[in-house]
Amino acid sequence: MTSEFTPSRIEQLPIGRGAGPAAGLPPVLAYGEMARAWGTEQERIRVDPSSPYDPIADLYDSWSRSVVEDVAFYLEEARAAGGPVVELGVGTGRIALPIARAGIPVVGVDSSERMLEVCRRRAARMGVEDCLDLRLGDLRHPPVDSTTSLVLCPFRSYLHLPTDADRRTALEAARRLLEPGGRFVFDVFAPAPDDIAETNGRWLEREPEIYERADWDANARSFTLRVRGPAAETAMELAWTSPEEWRRLLEETGFEVLACYGWFDRRPYEGGEDTIWVSRRPPA
Ligand SMILES: C[S@@+](CC[C@H](N)C(=O)[O-])C[C@H]1O[C@@H](n2cnc3c(N)ncnc32)[C@H](O)[C@@H]1O
Repeated sequence: MTSEFTPSRIEQLPIGRGAGPAAGLPPVLAYGEMARAWGTEQERIRVDPSSPYDPIADLYDSWSRSVVEDVAFYLEEARAAGGPVVELGVGTGRIALPIARAGIPVVGVDSSERMLEVCRRRAARMGVEDCLDLRLGDLRHPPVDSTTSLVLCPFRSYLHLPTDADRRTALEAARRLLEPGGRFVFDVFAPAPDDIAETNGRWLEREPEIYERADWDANARSFTLRVRGPAAETAMELAWTSPEEWRRLLEETGFEVLACYGWFDRRPYEGGEDTIWVSRRPPA
C-alpha cells in the first residue's frame, strides 16, 4: 500500500488553453449559488459536509507528488473520446487539469469543497478554468444531468465506497452519465496479504515530512488510512473488493467490460494489486 494516493506533476505537461465551457453540460454553480442550493437541495446533492479530504486539501498535491503513472493513460482516453469528460472524485485536478490543458472540457465532481477550491486555484494559475466545470457532489449521485462519451474515476476513488450496495449505486450513476457506446474508465486496487503484513499499523514517510499509516482489517476488506503532514492530518475509511467482484458488479449494472488492465501501460491484468477497468455502456 506504499503507492497509494499520490498525484502528479501536471506542470510538466504541455500547456494548452481551454476550449471554453464544458459543451452540452449544465453550468457549474458558483460558490454562493452552491451554498444557497445546499439549504434547499441538501437531499438531492447528498454531500457529506465533513469530507476527510478537507483538512488535507492543501497537502494533497505534495502527498501525491510521485503518482504520475496514470496521467498519460487517462489523457489518452480523454483525447480518444474528444470530450467533454466527467471525472468523478476530481480532487485537486491531478487528472482533470492535464485533460483541460489539452483543450478537452471536464466536468469534475467531488464531495470535498476544499479539494475543489484547490483545483479551482490550480486551474486559474494554468489558465484552464474555462475548460473546467467543478461541482460539489457525491459520486453516487453526481449533480450532472446530461450524458457524455467518457466518464472517469481515477486513483482508486471507488475505495471510498464501503459496501457493494454503494458500489452498485455508484456504477449505476456512472452509467447514467454515458451516452450509448460511451466509456467508463476507473482504477481500483485490492491489497496483497504481504502488503498488509508489511505496512499494518506503521507510519511510513511517503514524501518528506508527510507520513501515512494504514490499519487493515483483511476480514472486513477495509482499512483506516491516516495521513499526517507538518500542519494537517486526517483519517479516512476505505474498502476494497476483488477484481472478480468488480467485473460482476460492472456486468450487473449494465456495462460491457472492454478491458481489465494490470497497469497503466495497458498490460493485461494477470494478478496483482491494481486493476484498471475500461468498460462501456452498450451501443443502442
Ligand atoms: C484519491 S483522491 C483522487 C483525486 C483525483 N481523482 C486524483 O486522481 O488525484 C479521491 C477523491 O475522491 C473524493 N471523494 C471521496 N468520496 C467521494 C464521494 N462519495 N463523492 C465524491 N467524491 C468523493 C475525495 O474528496 C477525493 O478528492
